[in-house]
Amino acid sequence: MIKIAPSILSADFSCLRSELEKIEKAGADMVHLDVMDGHFVPPITIGAIVVDALRPHTKLPFDAHLMVSNPDRHIESFAEAGADSITIHAEVAPDLNASLARIRSLGVRVGVSINPETDEKVVLDILDKVDMVLVMTVRPGYGGQKYIEGMESKVRNIREAANRLNLPLDIQVDGGINTETIKKVVSAGANVIVTGSAFFNSKDPAEFVSMLRRAVME
Ligand code: DX5
Ligand code: ZN
Repeated sequence: MIKIAPSILSADFSCLRSELEKIEKAGADMVHLDVMDGHFVPPITIGAIVVDALRPHTKLPFDAHLMVSNPDRHIESFAEAGADSITIHAEVAPDLNASLARIRSLGVRVGVSINPETDEKVVLDILDKVDMVLVMTVRPGYGGQKYIEGMESKVRNIREAANRLNLPLDIQVDGGINTETIKKVVSAGANVIVTGSAFFNSKDPAEFVSMLRRAVME
């Protein structure tokens, strides 16, 4: 079973509360929160204060994707704000094991992400320390980009490594996912699917979520 995680990056930021309702009513499994600091990536989006304000308005899990240069500085505040999982980028964690352990110690699910140009080898020997690996399928920073061909081979290598270790790892893909690209990432072993622009641009988000689920059953 795949899990669908709409990203509020493509939502209408003037009414996030009703956008959360849209995500819930569409039958999605979690809410993906794209946190950008204007340094790791050019834009600045939302911080823990917004996550905290949104928390009472949905029962869906909050999946925080920290695209920030200094994740250690922010892990605690996102956990306090009600994030159910916190994903940090391997590229900017000088002591990745320590950062992941810190997330774990706060009782939050642990995620590690790699950019398209980052070799998946950097996460293969820490798979037992995380609940989820996020394979970026576009360069982080903006919604609405095109899926970078070939990223599914990273997903496949990570899934094979997890299977060898008997780990029930979540593998998330983020960027350019639609009813076509979802097929190759899921057949490679991804099971958590972020959808931003395609979800919020669709006229019927519930139907779009069903289409994603159907696309991988064909
Ligand atoms: C990109 C973000 C993504 C983005 C995906 O930096 O991490 O979560 O919102 O958007 P789409 O689905 O439009 O590519
Ligand atoms: Zn994201």
